[in-house]
Amino acid sequence: MGQVRNQAEDQQKIYQRWAPVYDRIYRGLLRDGHRTLARLAAGAGTDILEIGVGTGLVLSHYPRRSRVTGIDISEHMIAKAREKIDRHKLFHVRQLQVMDAHALAFEDKSFDAVCLPFVITLIPEPERALDECARVLRPGGEIIVASKLGDGAGLQGAIEEAVAPLARRIGWSSSFRLSRITDWAHKRDFDAIEILPVFPNGFFKVIRLKRRLPNAETDLSR
Ligand SMILES: C[S@@+](CC[C@H](N)C(=O)[O-])C[C@H]1O[C@@H](n2cnc3c(N)ncnc32)[C@H](O)[C@@H]1O
Repeated sequence: MGQVRNQAEDQQKIYQRWAPVYDRIYRGLLRDGHRTLARLAAGAGTDILEIGVGTGLVLSHYPRRSRVTGIDISEHMIAKAREKIDRHKLFHVRQLQVMDAHALAFEDKSFDAVCLPFVITLIPEPERALDECARVLRPGGEIIVASKLGDGAGLQGAIEEAVAPLARRIGWSSSFRLSRITDWAHKRDFDAIEILPVFPNGFFKVIRLKRRLPNAETDLSR
C-alpha cells in the first residue's frame, strides 16, 4: 500500500514537470490513438469516464452529445485540461477531478464507457484499477484502453524490458504486456472484442473490453 502511494506521488511530481510542455510533444504522436479511443467510447454510450485525463487532449474528440467526466492524479495536468475546456467551450465535459485510478469515488454502474488513454502502463496496480473501472461500468458498457502494449517477444521485447526503469522515471512504461489486460479480462468476465493498431504503424494499440454474455465466444486474444 505504501509503495503504491510512493509511486502515485512520483507520478504527481513527474507530471508536474510534464504539464507545461506535454501537448507540444505528444499531441501529434497520440492523436490517432486519442481519436480511435474517443470514437469507440462514444459508440458504447453517452456517459463516459476518462481515467488519466491529463491535459485533456482527448476531450475535443468526444461528440458534443456525450457527457464526459475526467479524473487524474496530477492537479497540474488537470489545470491544463480546465484551460482547454474554457478556451474551446467543451461543454460536454461535465467534471474533472483529482483522483487516483485505484479508488474511484463514483457509484457502481455510473458510466457507459470507461477510457484509459496512455495511463494503464503507469498505474502501480493496473488490475485493481481495472476492477474499479468494471465496478463503475453499467451492464453492456465497455472499457477502452490505449497504450504501448507489447507482447514481450524477441529483441524488441528484450529492449523494452531493459529500458523500463528509465522509461518509468520520465513517466512512461515500455515493458507493459497486452496479456496483462487480456488475463484480467478472462478472470473478470470481460472479452477483448477488438484490438486496433494505431499510429505510428501499430506501435500503440487500442483495446476494447466488453463484459461477457453467457455462451459468447468472441474473444480475439485467445
Ligand atoms: C502519459 S499521460 C496521458 C494523458 C492523457 N490521457 C493523454 O493521453 O494525453 C499519463 C497521465 O496519467 C496520470 N496518472 C498516472 N497515474 C495515475 C493514477 N494512478 N490515477 C490517475 N491518473 C494517473 C498522470 O498524471 C498523467 O496525466
